[in-house]
Amino acid sequence: MVYDSGFYNLGVRPTPEDLSIGDQIGGVPLAFTKLAELIAAGPALDPLYDATKIAAIEAELAVDATTGLNELLIPISPLDLSPRPFVLEVACGPGLVGNAGGNGNGANGPNAGDGGEPANNPIPQCNPNVIPNERLLRNGAFKASDIRMTKATGPFFHNGSKMTLQHVVNFYETAGSFTTLNLENLDAGLRIFDLGPTDTAALIEMMETGLTDWRVMHEEAHFDHPELCVPNGHDPASGKTILAAIPAVGSTGANNPLATFEEVINSVTSANHEHSLTEPCTMPGIVTAGLSDIDVQNPVPAITSLDPASATAGGSAFVLTVNGSGFVGTSVIRWGNATKTTTFVSDTVLTTTIDAADIASTGPVDVTVANPPPAGGLSNTVAFTIDPV
Ligand code: HEM
Repeated sequence: MVYDSGFYNLGVRPTPEDLSIGDQIGGVPLAFTKLAELIAAGPALDPLYDATKIAAIEAELAVDATTGLNELLIPISPLDLSPRPFVLEVACGPGLVGNAGGNGNGANGPNAGDGGEPANNPIPQCNPNVIPNERLLRNGAFKASDIRMTKATGPFFHNGSKMTLQHVVNFYETAGSFTTLNLENLDAGLRIFDLGPTDTAALIEMMETGLTDWRVMHEEAHFDHPELCVPNGHDPASGKTILAAIPAVGSTGANNPLATFEEVINSVTSANHEHSLTEPCTMPGIVTAGLSDIDVQNPVPAITSLDPASATAGGSAFVLTVNGSGFVGTSVIRWGNATKTTTFVSDTVLTTTIDAADIASTGPVDVTVANPPPAGGLSNTVAFTIDPV
């Protein structure tokens, strides 16, 4: 049995609903274990995967015969950004609980293995390869998160399903929410346990206080800031971005810490502060009355020619090409007062289909192009001629 190091199925969601790294994108598996299996056994193993792409990844991972180096070079640590060869390594880790022998008393220690913690001994019979059809623990496995700034990072888990750390501990105490349903992929280390109120409180206190940087909570140096304008939605009337203000704090920060997610969601009245995003930003030159002045403004379009420029009344449908300038992805061609479904080809070319009904009778038709806000506007008018039969 192999798994991607650091990824576990805890039963946060039913596995079939939330595959996580058990899934694939474009014929390439997200789990390294599955990739290793496909490389070891050949992509024919599973038709779900793209043999060509797997072969290309395998070639990238291989040592180059000329340079003696792996071709896939990536930084492997935030502390060392120099590119290093990426190696898809299958290693034997510490034994699972019960795998490394033991004396039957369930005690922890180097020889534990009968109900204690995993022993830090390699499993003697471990084969550091992924063999075909080996059991992979990848479906529904999520990356074990960093537990930092925990006072401020709720709600917890990848789907935000636990509002508080008490809920998180309760979840672990019952060995996850979907234990039975997920049994096939569940992490083997999960156990039902009861920490009791004193130890639970101490654990939560450790995570909330010990693992939280209080300079961040009070927004004090180095985490103070000037007034910040943050985008808070879209004003449909002007097409501009609404910019709300987060007020400036000095280097000594705010007296009271930031409100937690739980406090905000429960509208708890506490001295802790939250940023309501109801105050409009006031930065001159950037914002006017809370609306951004620096959104990308659409140009006013201009038409230089139509192709074709005329048709015969009663003729059949055709594609009209409008040449000009200032066209954007949201430009629309107008046929008289009607808006036509428009294809953006480039900022100088738009096309649309003119239906037979549009040229049923003779006469000129005004063709214009409209660009929506922000800014934008209507182009010059060019007449399309409909000749008599
Ligand atoms: C009582 C012991 C534990 C505590 C208090 C604890 C605490 C937490 C917390 C607070 C989070 C949420 C982090 C966030 O969303 O910001 C978390 C996530 C996670 N932990 Fe633990 N953990 C414990 C044991 C374990 C064990 C034994 C494993 C591995 C078998 C594990 C694997 C994970 C994983 C995979 C996630 C991410 C789950 C997801 O996002 O769906 N944890 N843990």
